[in-house]
Amino acid sequence: MLFAVFALMAGQALSARSNLKARRTIEQAFASSSDLTYKLTEIDPPVVGTGTPSGGSTWNLAIDDTPSGYKQVIDGFGGTVTDATVAVINELPPHKRSQLLRELLTKEGANFKLLRFSIGASDLSTPPAYDPEEPPAYTYDDNNGEDDPELKGFRLRDRGEALAKLLKEMKDIQPEAILLGSPWSAPGWMKLNKALIGLAEDNSLDPKYNTSYAQYFVKSIEAFKDRGVDVDFFTLQNEPLNSQGDGHITMYQSADQAAHLIRDYVGPALQEVGIDTEIWAYDHNTDNPSYAETVVDIAGQYVSAVAWHCYAPNLDWTVLTEFKKRNPTRGQYMTECWTSHLTPWYQSSSNTIGPLQNWAQGTMMRTLGTWPIGSNDTYGPYIPHGCGTCRGLFVADAGTATYEYTVDYYMLAQYSRYIPKGAIILDGTGSYSYEGYQGIQSVASINPDSSLTVVIENTFANDVNVTVDLKSGDRWCGNVPPQSVVTWLLP
Ligand SMILES: *[C@@H]1O[C@H](CO)[C@@H](O)[C@H](O)[C@H]1NC(C)=O
Ligand SMILES: *[C@@H]1O[C@H](CO)[C@@H](O)[C@H](O)[C@H]1NC(C)=O
Ligand SMILES: *[C@@H]1O[C@H](CO)[C@@H](O)[C@H](O)[C@H]1NC(C)=O
Repeated sequence: MLFAVFALMAGQALSARSNLKARRTIEQAFASSSDLTYKLTEIDPPVVGTGTPSGGSTWNLAIDDTPSGYKQVIDGFGGTVTDATVAVINELPPHKRSQLLRELLTKEGANFKLLRFSIGASDLSTPPAYDPEEPPAYTYDDNNGEDDPELKGFRLRDRGEALAKLLKEMKDIQPEAILLGSPWSAPGWMKLNKALIGLAEDNSLDPKYNTSYAQYFVKSIEAFKDRGVDVDFFTLQNEPLNSQGDGHITMYQSADQAAHLIRDYVGPALQEVGIDTEIWAYDHNTDNPSYAETVVDIAGQYVSAVAWHCYAPNLDWTVLTEFKKRNPTRGQYMTECWTSHLTPWYQSSSNTIGPLQNWAQGTMMRTLGTWPIGSNDTYGPYIPHGCGTCRGLFVADAGTATYEYTVDYYMLAQYSRYIPKGAIILDGTGSYSYEGYQGIQSVASINPDSSLTVVIENTFANDVNVTVDLKSGDRWCGNVPPQSVVTWLLP
């Protein structure tokens, strides 16, 4: 009887979701929990119908899996391959190192496909291996602080070379990986205050170096290409409105300045040499969407998407939906969100599910890797005054030749492993959080094989029986353990 009902309902779903390829035939569920009792662990799958909800808490979600519910197409998920990431990966013994890379980049593990990297140093950079006394902050043309308008001193240098080599290896392991580059600053001599780090005052590009800076991007992209690494996208400046002094590596860039630099210098310079790397605008918090609007309005012909970070006070991802209404053709991505022992267990999940519900095509966390295992409050390596509390999705320790995944890794992998590139996010209702972020959030996709993925985040301290109604006709019901993220794979 149950089978008959199932077959009938499945039949309806089949006709609604035609175009079948190697479609999955069974339902499955995988969970990761805040205490890591579950780590991408297979749990009881949902059942067709209302299940047997014996009172207690239940929750209803609805998903429009018909074409009227189709939203954005997914590119993937991942994090930044910081210099810290490169350093800790390269310190591992070869077999551990290749195991880690395979797990990060393939379905054996997290299946990460969006990789960001810093063009020059970020605050998670290291001194060069050959001289730990050298300053950790660098660009590809520091030229001992001397002006170098023709970029004769341009070189990737040791850390850029190590990064390019690792990115090449990562692309070989995961050919679908997409690379996004972002500078934390122009070379010091190009700035009004002549300082790469440390000074907030006059901490912006000297307009007389507009052309040189455009060439800096051309040369950076070409240098990576020469090493077998195609850079798909870049942003003009990481956090352009962040101009902290006190040792930070930052550069201030107003929306107008960024827009004109792209339209009049960087865009044309790329075009002239036939580089098809696309520019993403902004790369900063959601509380200043007018920045992104300005860049898109003025330099739209060179800008394919907008990059958002997660650090706005009163963080509100619906800003992306509002942006989409005004700019329907632009892509959007969440390009940076920190993870730490100071952030809640659902940090990487909630900062993925929120953007996905609001048109983002992918999300990236702050840093893929840091050292060391066992330390609570200091990760790294990082440059002085940089983020010492930013913890990687994995933490590695050269001393013991081991690595471990943090809770943030498992929570992100609940999405990255099961929402493939090319999946289409579906419209849905029923997500709700009370004050303090207690509640149920969900997002669903229809995948290239026309199966469905439903991710449900439960931040309650109790389990919840969730019912999901599909517009095509099916109803599924399953249990979501306390403080966990569960992924359902539905035929
Ligand atoms: C969920 O459903 C199962 C199966 O009927 C039941 O044992 C459990 O108590 C329910 N949980 C809640 C929180 O209602
Ligand atoms: C450099 O570009 C800025 C916009 O970013 C513009 O205001 C300025 O006039 C340009 N300067 C020169 C010398 O071309
Ligand atoms: C790590 O942090 C936890 C919770 O704050 C604390 O109980 C523990 O003692 C800390 N461990 C170390 C090694 O500092």
